[in-house]
Amino acid sequence: MSGDAGRAHSDAGLKRLLLLPAIYSGLQRLLGAERSRAVFSRDYIAAQPGDSVLDLGCGAGDILPHLPEGVRYTGIDINPSYIESAAARFGARGHFLVGDVAELDPVSVGGPFDRVLMVALLHHLDGAEAESLLASAARLLSPGGSVVTFDCVLVERQPRMARFLIERDRGRRVRTPEGYRAVLGREFEKVEDEVRHDLLRVPYTHYIARASRPRLRRGS
Ligand SMILES: C[S@@+](CC[C@H](N)C(=O)[O-])C[C@H]1O[C@@H](n2cnc3c(N)ncnc32)[C@H](O)[C@@H]1O
Repeated sequence: MSGDAGRAHSDAGLKRLLLLPAIYSGLQRLLGAERSRAVFSRDYIAAQPGDSVLDLGCGAGDILPHLPEGVRYTGIDINPSYIESAAARFGARGHFLVGDVAELDPVSVGGPFDRVLMVALLHHLDGAEAESLLASAARLLSPGGSVVTFDCVLVERQPRMARFLIERDRGRRVRTPEGYRAVLGREFEKVEDEVRHDLLRVPYTHYIARASRPRLRRGS
């Protein structure tokens, strides 16, 4: 995850500032992300009290206030500053771990989980990274559980401003709906998805998917 050209993620230039949790969360709030998280949580994650939720690439844990009380939440992020901020804000409401989701250790992570979240994560991962992570997530799901993803997306006839912003995202692997569907479909038999243009205060387009029924693989 370096800022090198050609990598799936860039922290070059001013984007480096977003590594600071206060700046990242503040910018998100300005753009209207609190409302989008509320909608995403209610209509797509749809967790119930008592459910176990694993949030991969959890950032500063900003989704947690939108999950129902009583959810058992574990968040993992590679950026220690984000995890420090999440732990300071939410304390015992969640369990926060610094770690690389590419090296998920099922023992320290725990599980199984009713929901595995990837909120704005897939578009930071190349095809092989995404495939491997989805396979690990599939193994951590409880029976009937689902992986729920949320990403920016490139679509035809997109507002020009939305495309402009999305093309400048730190994640360098923004896909089309078909692209996300293909990655998810390799690991899951059922992929329900939706493209939304109405979740932020600025023109922006999101791809949201719920993937369930992991494909059976030898040795899994
Ligand atoms: C765009 S941010 C989204 C953060 C959070 N999910 C949210 O919605 O606010 C992407 C997050 O993925 C984390 N991330 C990227 N690659 C990762 C990896 N390999 N392992 C763990 N976290 C990673 C980044 O540190 C960052 O917090």
